[in-house]
Amino acid sequence: MGTEIPVHVGIIMDGNGRWAQMRGRTRSQGHLEGLKAAKRIVKAASDMGIRYLTLYAFSTENWKRTADEVGFIMGLIKQYLRGELDFYRENRIRIRHAGDAAGLPLDIQAELLSAAADTAAFEGTQVILAINYGGRDEIVRALRRLAASGRMTGADMPALTERDIAACLDNPDVPDPDLIIRSAGEYRTSNFLLWEGAYAELCVSPKFWPDWTGDDLAAALSVFQGRDRRFGGIPAVAAAVKS
Ligand code: IPE
Ligand code: IPE
Ligand code: MG
Repeated sequence: MGTEIPVHVGIIMDGNGRWAQMRGRTRSQGHLEGLKAAKRIVKAASDMGIRYLTLYAFSTENWKRTADEVGFIMGLIKQYLRGELDFYRENRIRIRHAGDAAGLPLDIQAELLSAAADTAAFEGTQVILAINYGGRDEIVRALRRLAASGRMTGADMPALTERDIAACLDNPDVPDPDLIIRSAGEYRTSNFLLWEGAYAELCVSPKFWPDWTGDDLAAALSVFQGRDRRFGGIPAVAAAVKS
């Protein structure tokens, strides 16, 4: 049983709709409570010393929802980005974005840019908001960036390496996630961090996202600490045995 805190935690914040449905409330109310949970978890992650926290807030597939729901979620994101600056400053939290910014409404793009600029120098937890994010889309955009950089032409493609692609992802300096958590019981990644999450430990909790507190994050970290991460190798005990 390790005691190591994961450097990078990703969270698929799911279950806002079901949380609301169970209480006879609207999906919007579920998203509003989900935002409050996100704030609690950012504070808890910062207090625990997690270096990077990626929050899956809106996927490239979530545009399929009604215009009302999408509009409500975008409004919440804007409010969150604008209203939390004092909190980021007090906690030295740096805000970043993952996903296709160009596909977002202009006002959200502007809020993301200003939150990132205002917090760029903060050395505490880096919170990466995955908004209009899809893992496949990120890989496609990475390859387009690589082509546009002129560093590799079609003729160089036979020499293409994983490192070339990784260097063109949305936040290439951010280490791969050690732990990916999903709330609300679904055992799927729904297009989250496909490339980066290749060796992430997965932790699924049945609890709906609006009910999450710092204690749930702490519980997921202790599950993580009980895992034996092998990265395709053999466990340390087995390595001591002759092959
Ligand atoms: C997660 O909750 C929030 C987003 C995907 C934006 P859902 O809205 O997916 O909640 P369920 O899955 O319908 O319960
Ligand atoms: C994943 O949840 C996306 C986010 C949490 C932002 P979804 O609710 O969109 O995923 P599916 O549809 O259940 O796979
Ligand atoms: Mg869902």
